[in-house]
Amino acid sequence: MVDSKDIKIRKATLNDIDKIEVLLQELIGDPLNDRRRFYNDAFSSEDYVGLVAEKEGNIIGFVDLWGFPDPGHGAVLGVIMNFIVSKEHRKMGIGAAFWRKR
Ligand SMILES: CC(C)(COP(=O)(O)OP(=O)(O)OC[C@H]1O[C@@H](n2cnc3c(N)ncnc32)[C@H](O)[C@@H]1OP(=O)(O)O)[C@@H](O)C(=O)NCCC(=O)NCCS
Repeated sequence: MVDSKDIKIRKATLNDIDKIEVLLQELIGDPLNDRRRFYNDAFSSEDYVGLVAEKEGNIIGFVDLWGFPDPGHGAVLGVIMNFIVSKEHRKMGIGAAFWRKR
């Protein structure tokens, strides 16, 4: 189990995208064309949130979510798009730390 004092979960910013990109290339594969433009669009939307897990200044986990109005449910729903912890840090509770109440 990871010591939660060593891990900081915080909102991602555009300054993080080079480090997030390393994780997303592992998750998705080769870099997508225009990926940087999509980061800009997503991060500037009020319906989007990205979170990073940081350990000693390194980004070792990333999750992002979109919220959208769903007529079927008559409610705003959320969908998790990407969720990844770097290989060497898996199974230590970091994935769960994103969802823990702080
Ligand atoms: C999914 C992931 C983010 C979990 O991060 P983590 O830091 O290892 O998570 P935790 O240590 O908090 O929890 C590990 C638990 O998640 C479970 N788990 C891992 N991947 C899972 C998956 N795809 N589906 C269901 N459970 C999963 C593990 O079996 C483990 O369960 P256990 O505690 O009962 O043994 C990580 O395994 C990962 O990056 N996987 C590759 C990317 C991926 O598949 N992302 C999800 C789709 S976008």
